[in-house]
Amino acid sequence: MEQNRDCKLCPLYKGVKSVCIPGRGSSKPKYLFVGEAPGADEDEGNQPFIGRSGMLLVEQIKKVQMGPARLTNVVRCRPPENRQPEPEEIKACRVYLKQEIEETKPKFIIAVGGVALGFLGKVSGILNWSGRMVGMVGKIPLLAVMHPSYVMRSGYYDDFAKDFVSLKNVADTIE
Ligand code: URA
Repeated sequence: MEQNRDCKLCPLYKGVKSVCIPGRGSSKPKYLFVGEAPGADEDEGNQPFIGRSGMLLVEQIKKVQMGPARLTNVVRCRPPENRQPEPEEIKACRVYLKQEIEETKPKFIIAVGGVALGFLGKVSGILNWSGRMVGMVGKIPLLAVMHPSYVMRSGYYDDFAKDFVSLKNVADTIE
């Protein structure tokens, strides 16, 4: 999928360096991790999850040997001051995630954090869902995990690690 650097589907393009940051990782992923929106590092580097929270996420993916993974976001431009994306911004940006799912055909989608969980799974309460299966996105099982930024703020590193082991087990069971 080509990066649409001219995207004007919502106003976020006005304040960023990198417009419509594409996913990164495997082009045939087993797991598609979907976060909230890029932060400052991602805007600078034009790639999702390359800052501190991204490193924590990737570290866990490697630790439990999850296999080919891809990282992307619900919203592809950095919201000002890292605020949560507005519902209209998420709605405008969903065409890109839909296309990415169709093109890369992941076996599992993993909502990373409450915003992605709300959008993809239509449920709230990420801490209750972290490490579990939530439902389906079309024919693809949807799992969830707490956001690594939250883990860094709260210090819930052990829970994050446990939830990743659980995700891997749930996925292995479904497969
Ligand atoms: N947080 C996200 O949700 N996505 C990123 O790409 C970086 C931080």
